[in-house]
Amino acid sequence: MKFKDAEHLLRMAFLFVAGLIVFVLLRNALVPRSFGQYGHYRGDALGEIKARPVAYAGHGTCETCHSDVLEVKDKGKHTHVACESCHGPLAKHADDPTAVQPEKLDTRVLCVRCHEANSAKPKSFPQVVSADHSAGLACNECHKPHTPVIEAEAKATGGKKK
Ligand code: HEC
Ligand code: HEC
Ligand code: HEC
Ligand code: HEC
Repeated sequence: MKFKDAEHLLRMAFLFVAGLIVFVLLRNALVPRSFGQYGHYRGDALGEIKARPVAYAGHGTCETCHSDVLEVKDKGKHTHVACESCHGPLAKHADDPTAVQPEKLDTRVLCVRCHEANSAKPKSFPQVVSADHSAGLACNECHKPHTPVIEAEAKATGGKKK
C-alpha cells in the first residue's frame, strides 16, 4: 500500500488547502474593491476626501480682504503665524463674509496654546508661565495679537516681565 502511514500527512495537506480557500474567500469579502487601484490604499479614498468641504481658506485668501491686518501683522513677531492658526478654520467666512462671522477669540485660551512655558519647547521660543505672567488677565489686555511685542514705553507704564 503506497499511502500506508501517510494519512496524517494527507490530513495536514487537506487542512492547508481548506485554510487557503477560507483565506481567499475572506480576503475577497473583506478587502474593499478599490484597494490597490493606485497603491497600498483604497483608490476610492481619494474621491471621498476630495468631496469633503474645505475647512481652511489659506493665508492668501484672508489677505485679499484683510490686507490692513496683514500689513500690521507683517511688522511684528507673528508675521509667520498664519491667520487661521489663531482664528481657526474660516473657509465658510471667506466664501460669505457677512453671513458667517468669525467667533470672538478668548486670548486666555488661545495664546497659551503656543506660549505656555514647557521644558520640551526650544529655549529660544518665547514662553511664559501664564499664572505668574498675567495672573488671569486676558493676554490682549496688554499685547496686541497681531503685533504682540509691547513697545518700550508700555513696558515702563505697566505689565511685568515673567
Ligand atoms: C471676501 C472677503 C473676505 C475674506 C476672503 C475674509 N474676510 Fe474676514 N471679514 C470680511 C468682512 C466683510 C468682515 C466683516 C467686517 C465687519 O463687520 O466690520 C470680516 C470680518 C472678519 C473678522 C471679525 C472682525 C471683527 O470685527 O470681529 C475676522 C476675525 C476675520 N474677518 C478674519 C478673517 C480670516 C482669518 C480670513 C481668512 C481665512 C478672512 N477673514 C477672510 C471679509 C473677508
Ligand atoms: C496670534 C494669533 C492671531 C493671528 C496670527 C491673527 N489674528 Fe486676527 N485676531 C487675533 C485676536 C486675539 C483678535 C482679537 C479678538 C477677536 O476679535 O476675536 C484678532 C482680531 C482680528 C480682527 C478684528 C479686527 C482687529 O483688527 O482687531 C480681524 C479682522 C482679524 N483678526 C483678522 C486676521 C487676519 C486676516 C489674520 C492674518 C493676516 C490674522 N487676524 C492673524 C489673533 C490673531
Ligand atoms: C500658533 C502659535 C501661536 C499663537 C496661538 C500665538 N503665538 Fe505668539 N508667537 C508665535 C511665534 C511663532 C512667535 C515668534 C517666535 C520667534 O520669533 O521666535 C511668537 C511671538 C510672540 C511674542 C514676541 C516675543 C518676543 O519677545 O520675541 C509675543 C509677545 C507673543 N507671541 C504673544 C502672543 C499673544 C499675546 C498671543 C495671543 C493673542 C499669541 N502670542 C499667540 C506663535 C504663536
Ligand atoms: C499686564 C500686562 C500683560 C498681560 C496681561 C500679558 N502680558 Fe505678556 N508681556 C507683558 C510685558 C510687559 C512683556 C515684556 C515686553 C515684551 O516682550 O513684549 C511681556 C512679554 C511676553 C512674552 C515674551 C516673553 C519672552 O521671554 O520674550 C510672551 C510670550 C508673552 N508676554 C505672552 C503672554 C501671554 C500668552 C499672555 C496671556 C496669558 C500675556 N502675555 C499676558 C505684559 C503682559
